[in-house]
Amino acid sequence: MGNDQNSAYGFGVETQNSSGQTLDCSFYSLGIGSAGNSKISEEFKAQLGEDNIRKVKKVSVELKINLQDKPKDAKDVYLRLHLLSHRLVKPNEINLEGIFALLLNVVWTSAGPCEVESFSQVRLQLQNKFGSLVVYSVDKFPRMIDYVIPEGVRVADGDRVRLGAYLSPGTTVMHEGFVNFNAGTLGKSMVEGRISAGVVVGDGSDIGGGASIMGTLSGGGKEVISIGQRTLLGANSGIGISLGDDCIVEAGVYITAGSKISLPDGNIVKAKDLNKANNLLFRRNSQTGALEALPIKGSWGGLNSILHAN
Ligand SMILES: CC(C)(COP(=O)(O)OP(=O)(O)OC[C@H]1O[C@@H](n2cnc3c(N)ncnc32)[C@H](O)[C@@H]1OP(=O)(O)O)[C@@H](O)C(=O)NCCC(=O)NCCS
Repeated sequence: MGNDQNSAYGFGVETQNSSGQTLDCSFYSLGIGSAGNSKISEEFKAQLGEDNIRKVKKVSVELKINLQDKPKDAKDVYLRLHLLSHRLVKPNEINLEGIFALLLNVVWTSAGPCEVESFSQVRLQLQNKFGSLVVYSVDKFPRMIDYVIPEGVRVADGDRVRLGAYLSPGTTVMHEGFVNFNAGTLGKSMVEGRISAGVVVGDGSDIGGGASIMGTLSGGGKEVISIGQRTLLGANSGIGISLGDDCIVEAGVYITAGSKISLPDGNIVKAKDLNKANNLLFRRNSQTGALEALPIKGSWGGLNSILHAN
């Protein structure tokens, strides 16, 4: 990102508990670069004020941040999560170091965010006022669709996508799918499995029902996992390495980085040696039980040609 691309601004409304700590922050006007003449509009000002039942105060927020610096406080984190979900920045492009320590655990309810400590009392009062109350979760991150609904996406169950997820147009997240913050899809995708923090999935790829994608290269690695284009993770499969384009992982097969994989020429390699390779079918041979990698198109040209083919 260029220099101006390293800064961002946001105007929004923050919910504070009685000690002035941030429970959440909604940004209604935000962007990359400088704010120019933007400011929070009058209709959002109507949200400001105190809620005596939830014991919270809503105050207006104006922020300007440097995206390459570590976030300074919870408001700063919320702006970064909004930028991701609005697709203004891509996963792994901005600094999110230390965000867990900056965010409070919050009780997310149909009446808004509440503080954990006083909630048993607050719950009673909210139930008395509204007749019923839905508690969605107790977590540091809220549901994305309560803050941002990016154009062109379908989310079948709002609980399954955290604020900070990056969903490209044409993405469907079905009920069994899950997308963490700082993770998501770079094109059209069907997501019926789990996309861990940091993971990005390329255009045209399909994450089958119950499939699992590890956050980093399995075996203690730090390299973040990615999936290329037009790749299929079969139902209940899993990967701990990155996959390239046009790959398939057979339903039910889990490929960890250290798994020994048989190749068509008789060689055996660790799965991590096939990291980001294109055009491979990973399957468990139903007769021998061995994990195998087979070329999907054309003939096996050896490990190097598979790794470097585009
Ligand atoms: C791995 C997979 C892609 C193979 O499907 P396919 O390419 O259509 O292949 P086929 O099932 O036609 O099998 C081709 C041959 O390989 C054999 N074969 C298939 N899987 C095998 C295995 N695990 N071990 C040994 N042989 C196998 C077949 O018996 C067949 O043999 P043949 O040529 O003697 O008839 C498929 O089984 C799969 O897992 N798809 C994932 C679908 C999915 O989960 N989608 C997400 C839904 S939510």
